[in-house]
Amino acid sequence: MAGRLIGVGVGPGAPDLLTLRALHHLQRADVIFAPSMASDVQSRAESVVVRADPNLRVRRLVFAIIRDDAARQAAHRAAAIEVGEALSAGLSAAFVTLGDPNVYSTFHHLLREVRRIDPAVAVETVPGIMAFQALAAEASLVVTDEVESLHIVTAVDGPVGIESALEDTASTVVIYKGGRHLGAIVDLLRAHDRLEGALLGELMGLEGSKVELLTSVDQRSASYLSTVIVPPRRSTS
Ligand SMILES: C[S@@+](CC[C@H](N)C(=O)[O-])C[C@H]1O[C@@H](n2cnc3c(N)ncnc32)[C@H](O)[C@@H]1O
Repeated sequence: MAGRLIGVGVGPGAPDLLTLRALHHLQRADVIFAPSMASDVQSRAESVVVRADPNLRVRRLVFAIIRDDAARQAAHRAAAIEVGEALSAGLSAAFVTLGDPNVYSTFHHLLREVRRIDPAVAVETVPGIMAFQALAAEASLVVTDEVESLHIVTAVDGPVGIESALEDTASTVVIYKGGRHLGAIVDLLRAHDRLEGALLGELMGLEGSKVELLTSVDQRSASYLSTVIVPPRRSTS
């Protein structure tokens, strides 16, 4: 393959949080691919691209969110074949992803399959602003200060895996992919005395966006595009 594959982070959803570097790469790419649930469904990442520059054209790659590993891999392989055809034709191909392409991103699933076709494919990534950064900015929350640490954890399979991060009370905990388990996350934060000040950001920068303190949230589940920030226990003096 003579082409080049570029993983472009488009930020969490607001088109003005797409960086100048990302826009530069998108405007110069021969083809822009976006992951999508179905060929007739515009993905969130695609919507950011076309709102940032309505002249850009996007090709959808169907990446259904399925838990079955074999079916998921087959979808990634089919997408890689399509991308591989563009690369073999010598084209530069951008693949857009919400947030950053190196953090919990489908880009690397795609890349793994593209590399099976051509291990020497030329690749680069363009960083993107992440949802938790947009959420912190919107709520004027200092994410970390002085010697505080930051954990980024996933609650895709429920909140069990986040307990050890919560036990580190001097750290901030960012919880990704926990929307389905919001009620259980709230219960766990309460049990660890970490609920106070915790924030929920749903669909940041997208239609239906909202930011709330978790203490005032009464729903037990939220959108897949939900991020929780649990601040450290800070002394008020
Ligand atoms: C597959 S991960 C993608 C992460 C992305 N690569 C990043 O750097 O932010 C999906 C998770 O990212 C978070 N997320 C991404 N975009 C979001 C948004 N607009 N609003 C809230 N959370 C978002 C949610 O926790 C969601 O479950």
